[in-house]
Amino acid sequence: SSVFQGRSFLKEKDFTPKELEYLINLGLHLKSLKKQNIPHHYLEGKNIALLFEKTSTRTRSSFTTAAVDMGAHPEFLGSHDIQLGKKESVEDTAKVLGRMYDAIEFRGFKQKTVEDLAKFSGVPVWNGLTDDWHPTQMIADYMTVKETFGKIKGITLTFVGDGRNNMANSFLVASAMLGVNIHILAPKELFPEQSVIDTAKGFAKDSGSEILITDDIDKGVKGSNVIYTDVWVSMGEEDKWDERLKLLTPYQVNMDMLKKAQMPDDQLIFMHCLPAYHDTLTTTTHDVYEKYGITEMEVTDEVFRSKYARQFEEAENRMHSIKAIMAATLGHMFIPEV
Ligand code: CP
Ligand code: NVA
Repeated sequence: SSVFQGRSFLKEKDFTPKELEYLINLGLHLKSLKKQNIPHHYLEGKNIALLFEKTSTRTRSSFTTAAVDMGAHPEFLGSHDIQLGKKESVEDTAKVLGRMYDAIEFRGFKQKTVEDLAKFSGVPVWNGLTDDWHPTQMIADYMTVKETFGKIKGITLTFVGDGRNNMANSFLVASAMLGVNIHILAPKELFPEQSVIDTAKGFAKDSGSEILITDDIDKGVKGSNVIYTDVWVSMGEEDKWDERLKLLTPYQVNMDMLKKAQMPDDQLIFMHCLPAYHDTLTTTTHDVYEKYGITEMEVTDEVFRSKYARQFEEAENRMHSIKAIMAATLGHMFIPEV
């Protein structure tokens, strides 16, 4: 059995800081097993439902490959395939799925939906991203930080861009839990909600993490080990392009911004959860680029392809970290205490 057994992961603070660290280390362990071709069938005989209201490349593929690698059967249930949201309530859907599946992953809009799935299904539920949080991404990202710097506590990470989106929220809280100094660099209009800042401050008191919320680029990036950014317009807010382009253009991550960190090369990386708008190759951005006369958005192609960039290592770590989360909460795994 495991102290994680049967628990859901709906947001970072569902676990203790020590438990988050444990999952990061378990992810690294499972990664090394995979690299050595050592079987790790902790989910033999399990059935896992993958609910997606929003699109996904990494999260969907991670849950699918992770489940199969561990001996489970994943079933993709897209929003156009099932009754949820049209003919059936979240409560009824949860009650049905909980009788058939051993666990449920949910990606979608409202945090309340994932909370209700957990409440009514009676099985572990994993949040694969909502409007509010992206907790599984945190385990992957801090695996990547640990692989790069050999440690997590004491690192400084600057999240640049929309300070109110799911990634900013998750970084504020997860970083404060893990003793990472967290800077949110954003225009004032996009500063994080006070409730999220307060949650982070509560954890920072114990972990020693320093929290800085600023619109000043020099202050925001100086001394930072990780410059992290995300799309300027998140899924579900496609009506906000005008507002975001206006507010966020000065906050593009480019080589000038990386220089402002004033860090030695081996102490500085760039990260991005992906997908990224770093060139004109994506169809969504084509119209936007044309309308605003720009060719790059949250990150320049130069930074994206530079020696600092770690976004594809991060993407790979999504799979290993999701294995850790599933194995700990659902798997045949012995974790007596953390
Ligand atoms: N980072 C991430 O969650 O990617 P997807 O939206 O492709 O799943
Ligand atoms: N903030 C982005 C993250 C994508 C992984 C979004 O919600 O679209």
